[in-house]
Amino acid sequence: MAKPAQRNDVRPARAVRHSFTLTDNETGESWEFPTLHGTMGPKVIDTRKLYSQAGVFTYDPGFASTASCSSAITYIDGDAGVLLHRGYAIDDLAKNTDYMDVCYLLLHGELPSPEEKSEFDININRHTMLHEQLVRFYSGFVRSAHPMAIMVGIVGALSAFYHDSTDITDPMQRMIAAHRLIAKMPTIGAYAYKYSLGQPFPYPNNNLSYSENVLRLMFSAPTDEYEVNPVLARAMNSILILHADHEQNASTSTVRLAGSSAANPFACVAAGIASLWGPAHGGANEAVLNMLHEIGTKDRVAKYIRKAQDPEDNFRLMGFGHRVYKNYDPRAEVLRKTCHEVLEELGIHDPTLDLAMELEEIALNDDYFKEKKLYPNVDFYSGIILRALGFPTNMFTVLFAIGRTVGWIAHWKEMMEAPESRIGRPRQLYVGSKKREFTSVANREHTDRKISWSWLWGGKKTAD
Ligand code: SDX
Repeated sequence: MAKPAQRNDVRPARAVRHSFTLTDNETGESWEFPTLHGTMGPKVIDTRKLYSQAGVFTYDPGFASTASCSSAITYIDGDAGVLLHRGYAIDDLAKNTDYMDVCYLLLHGELPSPEEKSEFDININRHTMLHEQLVRFYSGFVRSAHPMAIMVGIVGALSAFYHDSTDITDPMQRMIAAHRLIAKMPTIGAYAYKYSLGQPFPYPNNNLSYSENVLRLMFSAPTDEYEVNPVLARAMNSILILHADHEQNASTSTVRLAGSSAANPFACVAAGIASLWGPAHGGANEAVLNMLHEIGTKDRVAKYIRKAQDPEDNFRLMGFGHRVYKNYDPRAEVLRKTCHEVLEELGIHDPTLDLAMELEEIALNDDYFKEKKLYPNVDFYSGIILRALGFPTNMFTVLFAIGRTVGWIAHWKEMMEAPESRIGRPRQLYVGSKKREFTSVANREHTDRKISWSWLWGGKKTAD
């Protein structure tokens, strides 16, 4: 396969046009740190020498003001509600491309030519099956296992199948690892679903498009021919494109950090799946549906809007808010339209969607949400569409993981190829005990602590 040129070099602009001066008002000392400029978005202060020069760390739990790397893959302007993949607007891509185009774009930096596209399709199709030994891993899970738990286990286990042929210093082997992961995720996810149903595992059908294969792997049965509904396949294509990548989100940062130690890429993506599963991140689409079911009827919406504002109540409106978007999530806009198309095509009148519309209407006009700039995010609609497509709630984040795999592996590849990459090793603000002398147990005083751990093995737990 001709190796596509890497057309987007990942280096911050080296032209140091400005600098920031840091002054310690305690000692009066000052230091100057260069700023680096990207092609768009905020400039950054290059603090790589901060500790060696000034003996201080920055403090930024959650990294809301920290650029962890340079990247040319995705650009987000949260205030303007802009999302670009290699410069292309997300709604243009969702309307005009298929998911394989976007995978090629994220991996190689350009949309594929017709020849590049057909070669890429062939390369992906070559890897859609799972090793038959790997398929046996499923039978080790209880049937009721959460499919995301199965995804973490099976993707992690892939590292046992290709470790000897994944020389991550070889660009071609890095690309094969990327192809394998993109190709196998629908099969891995579908088998988790089929396993929960006790149904046989279908083989992928490489005559279908990627999105058509996802639907067929999930919903076909050996007893009937499975006809792919083109409207549903288009909806699946949009969902995969809209979930493909999203800059340095929690799961992508997890993959980058795990990969920074030169770990096996399959194991790194398994770590990303674990992070995505959280309800504050990719698990939110499942949490949205659970929340809508808990609300139940429109007359209870106001009560939950109030709950979400109560500082004493840790309830949050699932599907609302975003670390970066302080405006509408452009993906939610596209998904909102897709949602109505799917429900119309299927002739579904979904009271859950009506409830979601009511919730959105009230939240968008509520002062608290307006003041905090909390808008519906990608997860708010995806759950309703996936439910309409026939997926059970616990499969929603699996679909998110299938779409996001290309983003994870594109960032892993970019990190492996970036000259400035080094092992990730953040520091901390230490607030623990100062050095103290060791006291042997004979000399330790009795305390009034009454922790009894006997309850762990069935005894009665005494109050602390
Ligand atoms: C995804 O990073 C990405 O790009 C993620 C993602 C991707 O594609 O990878 O876009 C996918 O994860 C989307 C987000 C899905 N999660 C949810 O829908 C869960 C509900 N949302 C919240 O948990 C929250 O909005 C986060 C986690 C998404 C963002 O949290 P932040 O940026 O840490 O915001 P915050 O917690 O600092 O909130 C700021 C204020 C707080 O109030 P104060 O402490 O200032 O008084 O807004 C409040 C929060 O209490 N707030 C909410 C809220 N989200 C934030 N209040 C009620 N309901 C909410 N949903």
